[in-house]
Amino acid sequence: MDFAYLGRKSLIVMTEYAIGIDLGGTAIKYAVVSRSGEIPFEGSMQTPATEGADAVISALASAVDACKAWAEASAITPLGVGIGTPGIVSPDRRKVVGGAENIEGWENVDIASKLEKRCGLRVAASNDANAMAIGEWIFGAARGVQDALFITVGTGIGSAALINGQMWRGHEGRGMEVGHMTVKCDGEDCSCGGRGCLEHYASTSALVRRYAALSGTEADGRKIVSLYHKGDPVASQALSEHWMYLGHGIASVINIFAPEVVVVGGGISEAGDFYFERLRRVVGAQVMDVCAANTQIVPAELGNRAGCLGAASLILCDTNESAVGEF
Ligand code: BGC
Repeated sequence: MDFAYLGRKSLIVMTEYAIGIDLGGTAIKYAVVSRSGEIPFEGSMQTPATEGADAVISALASAVDACKAWAEASAITPLGVGIGTPGIVSPDRRKVVGGAENIEGWENVDIASKLEKRCGLRVAASNDANAMAIGEWIFGAARGVQDALFITVGTGIGSAALINGQMWRGHEGRGMEVGHMTVKCDGEDCSCGGRGCLEHYASTSALVRRYAALSGTEADGRKIVSLYHKGDPVASQALSEHWMYLGHGIASVINIFAPEVVVVGGGISEAGDFYFERLRRVVGAQVMDVCAANTQIVPAELGNRAGCLGAASLILCDTNESAVGEF
């Protein structure tokens, strides 16, 4: 925290801010975030996911510009830019190494250097699910928890694990890709090169694809949920299949990690209680009771903002993720 001394009587506490960006396969969400987790400014834009890495970098740069313009008008100087991105990010938090198949050409991209050059601010990157996890750990549903799993359901399925109060993603941060866990051995091809992956059957894109195949018409996730509430049998079938695959995936990881809490984020996690009731029912029928004895399945408390908050925390806490609990 900074203090500005303005003469004898006035000592003003200056809050610190950072820009947080959540890059997804469909949308780029951006926000100015204060150290205490307030979001005075936010916005979103479409991800040019099929236009190649340069187009995505330009879109990220314009998201930063929008935040900088707001900050300037508010006499705020952001400390830097934190980005949550799909894929495996190098341990120095600068480069997407690979594994982000939902964005074309998003491989071996030094996001930090490219954006620092364009924006003149320090940049740090992290996997998007890890960013969401950090947001929920510091400000949301996993506050005070030692063992937690985080799953984001969107264009893809991302995940992160907090084990004994430390973020864990495997050697060199190359693991914890629960979205690419096999749920159907003889299943369809997944964009990752494998087949039958959880992401291919339980992401929001999978739900949308399944609804279109069953009904012959297009609808996005929100519309499918609203059709479900109106008793539409096709929406009901597509969502039941979604819960079945997601629930089985979550049950498998509970059997492995026995977390205190599974935090589920992404747009669809804001669908409401009914969504979680159905999901918990599937998990409950499949999981080993003895492993799940202490596990709760809850929505991300920060909703769709968790990613931006966590991404900004990369800068505000100046943290390496494995030690984020110290901040
Ligand atoms: C990627 C993950 C990412 C997830 C959510 C998956 O396809 O492999 O790294 O976290 O999508 O964006």
